[in-house]
Amino acid sequence: MNDTQTRRDFLRTGSIAGIGAIGVAGGLSTASAQRSASGVVGSPDAAVSIASGNGLQAVDRAVKRIRDGSDPVLGIVEGVGIVEADPNDMTVGYGGLPNERGVVQLDSSVMHGPTHKAGSVACIENIMHPAAVALKVLQTTDHVMIVGKGAYEFARAHGFPHEELLTERAREAWLRWKYKQSDRDDWLDPDQRDWDPAGEKVGLSVGDAGMEEPIPFTYGTIHCAAVNTSGDVSACTTTSGLSYKIPGRVGDSPIVGAGMYVDNEIGSAGATGRGEAVIQSCGSFAIVQAMGTGMSPTEACLHVLGQIVKNSKRQKRLMRDAKRPNFNVIVYALRKDGEHGSAAMFPGARYAVADGQGARHEPCASLFD
Ligand code: GLY
Repeated sequence: MNDTQTRRDFLRTGSIAGIGAIGVAGGLSTASAQRSASGVVGSPDAAVSIASGNGLQAVDRAVKRIRDGSDPVLGIVEGVGIVEADPNDMTVGYGGLPNERGVVQLDSSVMHGPTHKAGSVACIENIMHPAAVALKVLQTTDHVMIVGKGAYEFARAHGFPHEELLTERAREAWLRWKYKQSDRDDWLDPDQRDWDPAGEKVGLSVGDAGMEEPIPFTYGTIHCAAVNTSGDVSACTTTSGLSYKIPGRVGDSPIVGAGMYVDNEIGSAGATGRGEAVIQSCGSFAIVQAMGTGMSPTEACLHVLGQIVKNSKRQKRLMRDAKRPNFNVIVYALRKDGEHGSAAMFPGARYAVADGQGARHEPCASLFD
């Protein structure tokens, strides 16, 4: 496909010439073939956006913005901003679970296919929208990644407000986690306490009922990608990262090639779940490369999950048994022609999709039964 051809042209010719030119050797999958032949699966005029399961509103917003004429990168950053601002999502932005010191530290990266530019922030504190800050890095600097205090100061310089991101719900979850560490530190579990002034649960506003709640633990994240009718692809990943992490820990989300990656001639990929495993296999880069060799998005996702498991076998503590890991990773892929796929280690996961048929969840494939 040359630069003047649109994705609509690509879908219309539908075939080997177009496919070969973007390096996808394996031919069209069924879904793409249907799009080409009938002009449906949504509509060939529709933008397509995909996200992790918590991104239904994000994909809906991204597609609406793209239809209004926005660049896909602006649509997805605005879309994930809805989730970053949601206090009930404990995996991203405001309301995200804090690090082991009770401080919310956020990571995000953004990549713009047409320019192959990336921007990223890591360990940023007190800024609710790290994806928008990562986009500023991409747009306004010659850098790719800014971390910690520098990222905060960069955001403030661009007018992002200083905000307290630790919600009461996240603080209480963090306190419950602190108490459960009590066999190795001075934080006492309630049933280990021998004195409780005035019958109160010291420093814990949720009381006994709260103590019985499971302690939320997450690597959760939102990944979102979109392609417009010209075949221009962008992607973004944003997270509060591993809950109760060591301060300063950086996951895969802000690392270009791990938490997300775009090659505008092929498509995009992103990841959620155990970031350390994704980093050690360059997960998103590997998925895009696999699509470039002709695998469908779903095949590419499953292939790279297999690589992650193979690499994880070298660390026995990460394995549930000889074959299966004891952690999850979910990966997402969006091809330049609008075909998409997602896969998780285990069954039951869903991802969000918006196209000409509206926004919905679709099931992820799984590597293991
Ligand atoms: N995938 C998110 C993280 O590990 O931080």
